[in-house]
Amino acid sequence: MKVIVCRDYQEMSVKAARMIAGQIILKPDSVLGLATGSTPEGTYKELIKLYESGLIDFSEVISYNLDEYYPIKPDNDQSYKYFMDHHLFNFVNIKKENIHIPNGMMQDPATECKEYDKMVENAGGIDLQLLGIGQNGHIAFNEPDSSFYYETHLTNLTDSTIEANSRFFDSIDDVPKQAITMGLGTIMKAKKIVLLASGKNKQKAIAKLLGDKITSAVPATLLKVHPDVVIICDEAAYNG
Ligand code: F6R
Repeated sequence: MKVIVCRDYQEMSVKAARMIAGQIILKPDSVLGLATGSTPEGTYKELIKLYESGLIDFSEVISYNLDEYYPIKPDNDQSYKYFMDHHLFNFVNIKKENIHIPNGMMQDPATECKEYDKMVENAGGIDLQLLGIGQNGHIAFNEPDSSFYYETHLTNLTDSTIEANSRFFDSIDDVPKQAITMGLGTIMKAKKIVLLASGKNKQKAIAKLLGDKITSAVPATLLKVHPDVVIICDEAAYNG
């Protein structure tokens, strides 16, 4: 694992955006795995600037998002579909048919999750997967547990994740209790992984990720066995 420690959130965002831009320049039809949440917002802003300056072109890019709340309608302003449209997709020339986000209104999650993985596989797998990290060490919505799912699946959110994400909702009771998430197998198959972390509240999770144990109590520690992971974090996430 390579660790890049940045002064602050802005520097982390610029570096992450440039890394993604490099991927798109090298392979214009890259398959990107994308994350939501506060951490990548700055990265998406910087990517939009790079697109506007003519440096990158999204016309052949294919994207697969990590997760979506369940149940949630796509036009709900708390849905990850809404987040992606308003933080990235509406501002770049990615084709609508190349955007994939788990459907928060799946009728048959078992079958539709399988189809999601099949689509990723048929696209040739993920070239670059962008990840955030939960305070409890989750990646996507693979929460600490005694065992993990390999594939995309419907999962229950832990109380700590519901509490952490309640900052986006009017009340904690409005936070969905479940989500559709890529499994750890799907994530680990990505050719390259870029994990972002910013702020003091991520320091414990980053310390565990950089420690020498792989434990299901901190799902992100599984990344230690992936051959190409870059962690881009700010000093607060690194040192507390
Ligand atoms: C979001 C996701 C989550 C977040 C994590 C951190 O698509 O998969 O794992 O990356 O919860 O969220 P923020 O960035 O809001 O601290």
